[in-house]
Amino acid sequence: NTLLKDIFASPSDYSEKEIEVSGWIRTIRASKNFGFIELNDGTFFNSIQIVFEENLSNFKEVAKYPISTSIIVKGRLVLTPGSKQPFELKAAEIVLEGLSLSSYPLQKKRHTFEYLRTIAHLRPRSNTFSAVFRVRSVAAHAIHSFFQDRRFVYTHTPIITGSDCEGAGEMFRVTTQDLYNIPKDENGKIDNSFDFFGKETNLTVSGQLEAETFALAFRNVYTFGPTFRAENSNTGRHAAEFWMVEPEISFADLNDDMDLAEDMIKYVIKYVMDKCPEEINFFNARIDKGLIERLNNVISSDFARVTYTEAVELLQKSDKKFEYPVFWGCDLQTEHERYITEEIYNKPVFLTDYPKEIKAFYMRVNDDNKTVAAMDMLVPGIGELIGGSQREERLDVLEARIEEMGLNKDDYWWYLDLRKFGGVHHAGFGLGFERAIMYLTGMTNIRDVVPFPRTVKNAEF
Ligand code: 4AD
Ligand code: MG
Repeated sequence: NTLLKDIFASPSDYSEKEIEVSGWIRTIRASKNFGFIELNDGTFFNSIQIVFEENLSNFKEVAKYPISTSIIVKGRLVLTPGSKQPFELKAAEIVLEGLSLSSYPLQKKRHTFEYLRTIAHLRPRSNTFSAVFRVRSVAAHAIHSFFQDRRFVYTHTPIITGSDCEGAGEMFRVTTQDLYNIPKDENGKIDNSFDFFGKETNLTVSGQLEAETFALAFRNVYTFGPTFRAENSNTGRHAAEFWMVEPEISFADLNDDMDLAEDMIKYVIKYVMDKCPEEINFFNARIDKGLIERLNNVISSDFARVTYTEAVELLQKSDKKFEYPVFWGCDLQTEHERYITEEIYNKPVFLTDYPKEIKAFYMRVNDDNKTVAAMDMLVPGIGELIGGSQREERLDVLEARIEEMGLNKDDYWWYLDLRKFGGVHHAGFGLGFERAIMYLTGMTNIRDVVPFPRTVKNAEF
């Protein structure tokens, strides 16, 4: 079999050659004595045009093949310079592999993304979703290549965990107990000693804490894996299961952290634009008209770096009417983040040094004792793409923070140990991989960049 990605890369290598291709029929039209098939073999975004004529022994059957029928075609590749298709395949033989029913749900007409979500098992065969998921694959490769080139150690952190990284309690419980008959102790508390692990466990919300342990052994590490959050937010940017990229760097502060995040985003954009030009052109033409221009601007810009306090002042000075009031100490809402990144800067912005009350316990407390060395990378169109911080390396401060936040120190004993046995200043961040794919493609709903999305009341597949 010759693969379309190879033919499209260099058609002249195959000119006038007999080749065999196989794939699924995307479109077919036939008249009395000849017909055209657009065949996609899955290896490339574009399809190949097959010309078949009545000299085929099975011409009449082929002419009636429904869309999505899989076939194997032998024929001669002919260059057709100047026409819409740069080449076509003159079929000498078409062998049926698997007939499709004519009720195949992905007919040529455009379908809404809502409808396509209900056929998540078939939508990767459509143009949009084949482009999305190929970009997703290439972007994942870009992440690995970025960090591996910089000698980061890829660390597999656990999916089932006994601690809550974010301290927000938005976790999915993992249990082997009969949920309706969980034994309770005399105070009505769940007795976990009967459970598989003998304690409460949950699906991880972030691999950060475990990644920190490896960063204090390997210096620079990254995790890249699934994370889970039982957030009840039904938005186009939240999923219950999503992938996170989390580097953790030792002997590094918040500025090093932001430099790394900025380099990584630019690298991934360049990599995907370079490796997936057909897909990016498609998105630019069909999904988001300004995509290529915007991505090019991101690559060539310096991201803004603004403190939370400055951002609050900017918001308070603006004439814009916000739904939520802005005051120092408030958690910034989507409308505030959008205003800053879309209307003031129109490029990615790092917001830094948030009030400690609205951030996680592990973030390093600044000298003002009011803010922490945190950063969120906000981008136009999406909002928060990255959340990160310098980590609190001072044992006494960290212990006090854990207590202040109402968390249990015993749950974090091993995390605290890192501060006892040669602690170093270190930092890290988490990139929401799905949000990065939205950013790269212009897709506006997270459900359309995850192969099988899990959101509130939705785990069909
Ligand atoms: O800001 P978050 O909560 O940060 C952490 O979890 C840190 N422990 C990361 C670290 O420092 N290692 O989440 C990081 C990113 C967010 O910026 C967002 O892009 C994404 O993860 N994210 C989600 N993406 C999809 N669906 C959700 N429910 C998400 N929650 C967070
Ligand atoms: Mg965050």
